[in-house]
Amino acid sequence: MENIADIIKKIELILDEASRLLNGSKDLNELDFQFKIFAGKKGKITEILHNIHSFAPEEKKIIGSKSNEIKNKIEEIYLSKKNKLISIERSRPLSENKIDLTIPGASFESPHKHPITAVLEETVNFFMSMGFEVVEGPEIETTYYNFDALNIPANHPARDIWDTFYLLNGLVPRTHTSSVQVRTMEKKSPPFRVIAPGRCYRYESVDATHLFMFNQIEGLFVDKTVRLSDLKGILEATVKYILGAKKTRFRPAFYPFVEPGLDLDIECVFCGGKGCNICKSTGWIEVIPCGMVHPQVFKYVGIDPEKYRGFAFGMGFDRVVMLKYNINDLRLLYQGNIDILSQF
Ligand code: DAH
Repeated sequence: MENIADIIKKIELILDEASRLLNGSKDLNELDFQFKIFAGKKGKITEILHNIHSFAPEEKKIIGSKSNEIKNKIEEIYLSKKNKLISIERSRPLSENKIDLTIPGASFESPHKHPITAVLEETVNFFMSMGFEVVEGPEIETTYYNFDALNIPANHPARDIWDTFYLLNGLVPRTHTSSVQVRTMEKKSPPFRVIAPGRCYRYESVDATHLFMFNQIEGLFVDKTVRLSDLKGILEATVKYILGAKKTRFRPAFYPFVEPGLDLDIECVFCGGKGCNICKSTGWIEVIPCGMVHPQVFKYVGIDPEKYRGFAFGMGFDRVVMLKYNINDLRLLYQGNIDILSQF
């Protein structure tokens, strides 16, 4: 049978053991674990108190106060060790995990716009800065808007220039964005300046410079005093801004919906005007077909050609992107090839 001295001795031994194990803990987890073993609700000290029924009340008092004293000491050891471990842990990243600035960082690929979208947005913003507004029209068009109202009647040989697919219901995938000119003039009364970006379709055999689907930006400026010099100024500024063109020239050209009709050429960006196979040895590349709106077109939409004048243009937009980035095959822009697209 244990006497009180044995119990006191046992309690003191618990303190020795606890002190050794708490102080020897390597981290906070181990420390907490050891603390519970000695001073927790089901710890060694509580266990002793549970087994002292046979002692006299005064003896129980002595044992109780001794165990309290030891418990407090264990707690003190626990807290001071805890503080030590926390400060070691805090200083660890600085002393042990020094940042090595020479290690290459994890690469992060940021998404970016397709070159057609990027240049399109840049161009649209440029025109908006000159007071143009963006309008849209349907990609599936009636032959009236695509041809007739643009002064290209059914029997006119010029329809051959815009050879296209005809749908069974007589509609056509629009061959150019010029149809949006007509739709806009029907709705808006002058003066106005609009651009109409969008997809067009033609019957083409596909090669490096032709696709059956392509992008155009149509432009139309109607007011009482619009002149050819306005067209020249605005379009020259455009190719300078978007393509960095240094030299430009206007040539006469035929388009049934304008009179006079012109083509704006820029000096070949590939050979610097010397002549190469891309510019077919001419030193020039055609970028913007344009002209003054034909009076007949105004009559179709009910605008009085005696009162109003206008200029129009339709730039093949994929072409602009090719010139801007020195791309020699149009198909590369539509293949979704990451190796190609990631270069932009
Ligand atoms: N629509 C013509 C085409 O696709 C291009 C064009 C020429 C548009 C002259 C115009 C213009 O607005 O004035 O071939």
